[in-house]
Amino acid sequence: MRLLLATGNPHKVDELRAALSGFEIHAFGLTDTPPETGATYLDNARIKARHARKHAPVDAWVVGEDSGIEAAALGGRPGIESARWAEDGVAALLAALAHEADRRVRYVSELVAISPNGAELRGTGMLEGVAANEPRGSEGFGYDPIVIPLGETRTVAELGDVWKSEHSHRALAARALADYLRRAR
Ligand code: IMP
Repeated sequence: MRLLLATGNPHKVDELRAALSGFEIHAFGLTDTPPETGATYLDNARIKARHARKHAPVDAWVVGEDSGIEAAALGGRPGIESARWAEDGVAALLAALAHEADRRVRYVSELVAISPNGAELRGTGMLEGVAANEPRGSEGFGYDPIVIPLGETRTVAELGDVWKSEHSHRALAARALADYLRRAR
């Protein structure tokens, strides 16, 4: 089954590919990306998928993904604004949590797939952890150097891409979606 992922983020493509063996995954980059005006990850994932549906080859499934990081001490912020709330999100989150005892954070990923005939499927995944005091590690992207998953001592960036392909919020969302896709095939 061929899936076109509507994203300009090559890490997301790699992570989905690693998490979804048995599916053929391609990046579907668009120059005129739609504004992410939704109120939820699901809304924004759907906006990306629907936009791709309009432009993609008719025989392919399209997939939109939206994700973010939520800090408990910040009432869930930055959440759906994670990519946009600060020029340097990692530094901004460390500064915002500097005097907070509650360092719980979680990643959320929402995937929406749309079939050639317009049917919609979705998958959700979450990865819980705590914020490190300073960035560590070089793999992954975004906030990975400051996220220590529950039960681990290393950050996601130290645990690395192979670990992410099995345990990340995106991998969990992808596996949930894959179950539906296999039934829809
Ligand atoms: P999106 O591309 O609009 O979905 O923005 C998601 C943002 O959330 C990214 O730009 C990162 O800042 C953050 N994020 C989501 N998933 C991850 C991840 O797996 N690692 C690190 N940061 C992530």
